[in-house]
Amino acid sequence: MMGFIFSVLLLSGIAAGLALILVISEKVIQNYGSCKITLNKGKKELTVEGGKPLLTTLKEQKIFLPSACGGRGTCGVCKCRVLEGAGTLLPTETPYMNDKERKEGIRLACQVKVRNDMEIEIPAFLFAIQQYQAKLAAVEDLTYDMKRFRFELLEPDRMDFIAGQYVQITCPAYKKGVDEVSRAYSIASDPQDNHFVELIVRRVPNGICTTWMFDYLKAGQSVQLTGPYGEFRMSDAQAPMIFIAGGSGMAPFVSILHQMRHAGSTRKADYFFGGNSVRDLCLGQQMAEFEKAIPSFKFNPVVARPQPEDNWSGQAGLVTEAVKRQYSDLSGHEGYLCGSPGMIDASIKVLVGLGMPQDKVYYDKFA
Ligand SMILES: Cc1cc2nc3c(=O)[nH]c(=O)nc-3n(C[C@H](O)[C@H](O)[C@H](O)COP(=O)(O)OP(=O)(O)OC[C@H]3O[C@@H](n4cnc5c(N)ncnc54)[C@H](O)[C@@H]3O)c2cc1C
Ligand code: FES
Repeated sequence: MMGFIFSVLLLSGIAAGLALILVISEKVIQNYGSCKITLNKGKKELTVEGGKPLLTTLKEQKIFLPSACGGRGTCGVCKCRVLEGAGTLLPTETPYMNDKERKEGIRLACQVKVRNDMEIEIPAFLFAIQQYQAKLAAVEDLTYDMKRFRFELLEPDRMDFIAGQYVQITCPAYKKGVDEVSRAYSIASDPQDNHFVELIVRRVPNGICTTWMFDYLKAGQSVQLTGPYGEFRMSDAQAPMIFIAGGSGMAPFVSILHQMRHAGSTRKADYFFGGNSVRDLCLGQQMAEFEKAIPSFKFNPVVARPQPEDNWSGQAGLVTEAVKRQYSDLSGHEGYLCGSPGMIDASIKVLVGLGMPQDKVYYDKFA
């Protein structure tokens, strides 16, 4: 009996000792201490605590790199150039890098940990991205699964953005088991109405941020936004344009149409909006107003599977088929696409197949 008790005590002692060694080694090994990050050849120098991803570390220092997936390593937009101190490229980064980027030391800031002094380069315009305190001013139902959220900016109280850009919203840890995350949403409002930012959001079943926005976020509540981010925007050319988007992909086009209306644009723009069924269509009234204000603009809603009870007399089928029905040569056009990666890839194929140069197809993938 004594032998058994002795063995149990001995094993427990060994286990406790091992646990202690683990804790100490974690503290010693994972404690990277204070690290220096030099940005853009000395334009800025930061002294930070090591141990966190570069993206988070920079955010804590109020330098906001785009991070459309909120740091999950799935969007590839948090790229920056690391000249020193990042170690070798990680398997999680390789799918997002071409050969040129690898050679230039481009890395995903959300995957690289700050473990020692680093030297990095980021596009200069990123220094201008700010954090905004805002409050939810109004919410409007657009369809059964889409809402428009209107945020009033409080501090700073204005955001200068270009139609087509997006913001990131911080979704707090609103229930047990959910950590704070941030997600990207295209700005769907008038760039001149810059005391407010409107977003058109589609509910993703069980999605962390959209569940919060639809079920928890209430009018008057404070939120945190950063931005504006992104290169998606109308080019300066005068070439006629094809817009393609379904669902919440409509958001940047609403902003672009405001911009065209203000500029008195005469540039031809044909917008093909795809929905699965009639209940996916929205903003018909606003689109009709844009058609009146911008005579060169035409809105073409297309329903993939209209039901007999819908009495739908408009275009039916896939949005890409509607484009093909209307155009046989798009070599002089530009394409603007927004929405799911699947829809964008299918649309690019069709537009390029109709002669549109690949480099004249601009898009923002919602992924
Ligand atoms: C540049 C950019 C702009 C964007 N603009 C908008 C916008 O204007 N309006 C808008 O509604 N969304 C937009 N998105 C998508 C948005 O950022 C979120 O990815 C989306 O709202 C889901 O977030 P979530 O936290 O609710 O879901 P998550 O918790 O991230 O995802 C839950 C599950 O749903 C899947 N999932 C993630 N996103 C989608 C999706 N879009 N459709 C179907 N399944 C999905 C995930 O793979 C996961 O399995 C944009 C994305 C990018 C990159
Ligand atoms: S934020 Fe780094 S890959 Fe999306």
